[in-house]
Amino acid sequence: MNTSSPDLLPDTDAGHATAAGILRSGGLVAFPTETVYGLGADACDDRAVARIFEAKGRPSFNPLIVHFADLDTLKQHVHWTPEAELLAQAYWPGPLTLVLRKQADSPISELVSAGLDTIAVRLPAHDSARAILRSFGGGVAAPSANRSGQISPTTAQHVVDSLGARVDAILDGGPCKVGVESTIVGLTDKPVLLRPGGITEQELAETLGRHLAVRHKAEAISAPGQLMSHYAPKALVRLNATEWEPGEIRLGFGEVDCDLNLSRTEDLVEAAAHLFDYLHRLDAMGGGTIAVSPIPHEGLGIAINDRLSRAAAPREG
Ligand code: TXA
Ligand code: MG
Repeated sequence: MNTSSPDLLPDTDAGHATAAGILRSGGLVAFPTETVYGLGADACDDRAVARIFEAKGRPSFNPLIVHFADLDTLKQHVHWTPEAELLAQAYWPGPLTLVLRKQADSPISELVSAGLDTIAVRLPAHDSARAILRSFGGGVAAPSANRSGQISPTTAQHVVDSLGARVDAILDGGPCKVGVESTIVGLTDKPVLLRPGGITEQELAETLGRHLAVRHKAEAISAPGQLMSHYAPKALVRLNATEWEPGEIRLGFGEVDCDLNLSRTEDLVEAAAHLFDYLHRLDAMGGGTIAVSPIPHEGLGIAINDRLSRAAAPREG
């Protein structure tokens, strides 16, 4: 699917349908939202989501926002709350993201929420984004469409410059209006402002009739380490296992005998796609230690090793 440069799709019905078709076949499509251009993939397709991280070149897995065309579809994936209803009525479609508990049976990839039991969701206002999402029909996971460490793109050309052929197609919908990422509000407990944005705390507080807690800098979501510590597996994790000890639960990589194999062909995209799901499944077996084969420290392997070393870090208390 990847040639030397991405396809630039026109902002027409045909362009939106082509974009939706690429998403359906597991490809990556950059598209405009009212905030910034997003790098989209089918949120239910583990491999497509893994390709987002590969394209961005992030050294760790940051959970992603899932975009929907309509509220009914969105609600199928989360535990909806009265406060979510108030904020949705006031600001959707628009530059607001809500973090809610994920429905246990939601088919959204575990990689989207990096193993957390919550997901970040939003209904963007941009007409082209809505048209693609409507044509696609489901949730589209999309971080800002830039390489890790670069600034967020507000034109199709920014995306070309940053990602080039790492994205299959770009829907050129002109410059983004807002230029700043969406405001993120956590609603899994008391409402908390997780990331400031165009919609202010004061506006949100007026809508909710109460103030929001504000996450302090030291525990900012941009520091994934903080977030990651929430969901270490119950089992101990032993890394770089070249042989298995008796009684260990075995997470393999490559041609090894094991309980679950991240990728028998040593494909890092496949390994990333399986990572969180397999950690959960192995943890549910209730063993004392999960041993993991060595994973190469290159490309997506860096993010995989980052996640695994957090899982293996000494526990507090
Ligand atoms: O305006 C925007 O929000 C743009 C457009 C494309 O929608 N997207 C965007 O995505 O800024 P990204 O990946 O650059 O930022 C997503 C933020 C991250 O800081 C991430 O930690 C947070 O959302 N996030 C996602 N899921 C979360 C979750 N389950 N719990 C807490 N934070 C979450
Ligand atoms: Mg970003």
